[in-house]
Amino acid sequence: MSQPNIVILAAGKGKRMHSKRPKVLHEIMGKPMIEYVVEGAKELSPSKIVVVTGHEKELVEERLKEAGLSFAAQEEQKGTAHALLTAEPMIGDGDGTGDVLVLYGDVPLARAETLRAFVAFFRRSEGVAFMTTAVSDPTGYGRVIMDGEEIRDIVEDADADASQKKIREINTGICMLRKGILPLLKEIRADNAKGEYYLTDICKIARVRGISVKGYHHDDAREVLGINTRKDLSEANRIMRERILEQHMDQGVTLLGEGIYIESDVKIGTDTVIFPFSFLRGKTIVGEGATIGPHVVINDSVLGDNVTIEPFCSLDGLTTEAGVKIGPFSRIRPTTMLKEGVKIGNFVEVKNSVIMENSKANHLSYLGDADIGKEVNIGAGTITCNYDGRKKYRTIIEDGVFVGSNTELVAPVRVGKDATIGAGSTITQDVPDGALAVSRVKQKHIEGYARRKK
Ligand code: UD1
Ligand code: CA
Repeated sequence: MSQPNIVILAAGKGKRMHSKRPKVLHEIMGKPMIEYVVEGAKELSPSKIVVVTGHEKELVEERLKEAGLSFAAQEEQKGTAHALLTAEPMIGDGDGTGDVLVLYGDVPLARAETLRAFVAFFRRSEGVAFMTTAVSDPTGYGRVIMDGEEIRDIVEDADADASQKKIREINTGICMLRKGILPLLKEIRADNAKGEYYLTDICKIARVRGISVKGYHHDDAREVLGINTRKDLSEANRIMRERILEQHMDQGVTLLGEGIYIESDVKIGTDTVIFPFSFLRGKTIVGEGATIGPHVVINDSVLGDNVTIEPFCSLDGLTTEAGVKIGPFSRIRPTTMLKEGVKIGNFVEVKNSVIMENSKANHLSYLGDADIGKEVNIGAGTITCNYDGRKKYRTIIEDGVFVGSNTELVAPVRVGKDATIGAGSTITQDVPDGALAVSRVKQKHIEGYARRKK
């Protein structure tokens, strides 16, 4: 099947959101809603995608700049018909048919297969087609007045009378028409409650000219939800969240219990098990056979196969190899690399560090700006003093080092291969390979002290 042009309307402010941010940049499961619309559009491999931008258009265009789109500027937002006309000069003949599929930037959950079925329907019927659906609460939507298979009219919520308001068949906003019909949009008047040029008024104008206007009923109203309010946004997040969880389960991930939140770009390998109240965000990728949670937050991290993330960990900007164990109660910050078999235990914070194979920091430590070799043991309470109040410095700990408990490593400093640091030391100078470094005050005993105190 040859592919149509696609126009995405995204110039509106979204007044009902009460937000400083343009509506189409509000996020659903970690991604601006407009990106879902663009992704759905791209799956149809269209000849061209034109996005109509207006309100805060720099922000919207900046966010979409890598997607290979064309932008049409609608300086004043005079309504959806006016928005589509703004895009008209940029719409080519595309595949030769000149068909135009119109999507709304605030109707983000439509699946590509639904759009494809709609395009196929349009091509059987020609003229103009609107996708409709039935909802239990039609408030805010345009009501569809049918005349057999044809749409006689679409009446906007603000203009509907009491009996029209009861109609539950609504316009999803997704519609399709021939490029040749676009000039008819100029006949639309803004003589309505909102004073806008409604795209939906094409119905009457087309029918007068004997052009057919068909309704394509889509059963799943949740997929074509329009987002006008924060409540709609919350509902869209709920729908998308469920959809994402189902996709992961279908692909062999075990998700147990409540409160699992996985953003839309996260990837998870098979046989990974995720326990309740775990949040996987951003560009996170988890390998196979991992165990995560409960109560874990992971952002922009890449975790290898068979890792274990125990409860109450916060991981951000972490990369690991296989078999790493973290937690409970660990905090990892960008940019950290943990090689195979590394263990990070409770109340350990790691930042901007590399830890090589099989090294351990099991309790109560801060490891910042450190390069730690293989088979290193970091004792409880070890601190890298990486900051002198102005600059940050690195701590280098070579393979096989044993760092005793409650050690401070004042950076920049290097601890040589197989060295040992006595517990309670403050290390300010480089330690040679294989040496024992101790810097604490020698213990002394004052005999009979308790007796004299009495
Ligand atoms: C629109 C439909 C309504 C439908 C509903 C589905 C019209 C007149 N009404 O109503 O029948 O039931 O969507 O969700 O089309 N936009 C522009 N420029 C403008 C105005 C709007 O680009 O001048 C964009 C908005 O950014 C938005 C989309 O068009 O993405 C829809 O606009 P909105 O004002 O939200 O229309 P609704 O009142 O929801
Ligand atoms: Ca809307």
